[in-house]
Amino acid sequence: MRQRRLAAPAFHRQRIAAYGEVIAQFAAEITGRWQAGTMDVHPQMLLVALRIVGKCLFNIDAEAEARAIATAVSAFMITPPPGYIPQALIEQLQKLSFGPMLKVQKGIADLDAILYGMIAERRRAPGDRGDLLSMLMESEDTDGTGGMSDKQVRDECLTVMLAGHETTANALSFTLWMLAKHPEIQERVQEEAVRVLGARRPAADDYPKLRLAYMVFAEAMRLYPTVWVLGRSAGPEPYQVRGFTIPAGAMLLAPQIVVHRDARFWKDPEEFRPERFEEEGKGTRPKFAYFPFGGGSRQCIGEALAWMEGVFVLATIARDWRLKPVPGAPEELPMTPSVNLRPKRGVPLVLERR
Ligand code: HEM
Repeated sequence: MRQRRLAAPAFHRQRIAAYGEVIAQFAAEITGRWQAGTMDVHPQMLLVALRIVGKCLFNIDAEAEARAIATAVSAFMITPPPGYIPQALIEQLQKLSFGPMLKVQKGIADLDAILYGMIAERRRAPGDRGDLLSMLMESEDTDGTGGMSDKQVRDECLTVMLAGHETTANALSFTLWMLAKHPEIQERVQEEAVRVLGARRPAADDYPKLRLAYMVFAEAMRLYPTVWVLGRSAGPEPYQVRGFTIPAGAMLLAPQIVVHRDARFWKDPEEFRPERFEEEGKGTRPKFAYFPFGGGSRQCIGEALAWMEGVFVLATIARDWRLKPVPGAPEELPMTPSVNLRPKRGVPLVLERR
């Protein structure tokens, strides 16, 4: 809770509005380099999301480091999800010297080089630069034990970098796939982007006006929630809920991937229909019928940033590019339910410039 309180100012509404500019800039820059033809859009979405988190929260332009970080993150995304494996076992596994664990160790070493480098640079030239890194590094413990150690700052940065980039990138990639599959919806997102933005980049004021882009992103996260299951351990005493006894220490799972497709809450749940976020079930749907960002005391701290990222990146792409499935592509995108739900073999699409 202390770390959340410290980090909170970086996610305030005014800050998110300022991040809008960074999002719009990277979205335009990265998609502006695209060439017509077939391309795997997933690495591109990883790059956009990583550069946005790096610039907004740590004031680094992560393009140079992006590849090392992406490789390291892939190494962490082992199956099955760690939720099913006790923490102590994970820690033991990570120390072993075999195939996937060597990759994890190399990933940790590469990330550490980047993060400790960033921290050392700040220690050399201290001062508030108005980003998350400053908030963490300038903080003082209220009990007078001093600020955070390099290791604590590194842990926080790693959490935010990992939590904040693959999730958003996967959600964007799934949304682009769905748009390619639904050309009539794609055309409407394009019309909206042209009407609201014309030829310029999006700014914070445009966010509420890009309503269809928002609903498309929301609907893609309903069907393909990047965080597809949450795990919690029950407390030390057994307890009763709705006639069930939850044993002490039991592992409880809350699977978005199941609840988001439950016909009790969603009409024709398998259908991709963005408008459902406007009309059907509004106000009557239980709060936890839709929880791509979790809930309660650990609810995603980056939610507002992720929404703005999703909407601005989609509007930029839909305005400038037409997306089509690759001929002979499978009906459903092959996915891997790892720590996050991720594309199994990328997201290849055919791009045409508009
Ligand atoms: C579409 C994008 C995203 C999705 C689907 C997502 C989803 C989630 C979910 C479900 C949780 C709760 C995990 C739990 O309860 O165990 C969470 C936590 C978190 N998210 Fe996100 N997230 C996204 C983007 C971001 C971004 C952009 C950032 C930051 C830049 C971020 C930072 C965090 C952090 C730091 C936590 C841990 C909070 C805590 O434990 O107190 N996330 N996210």
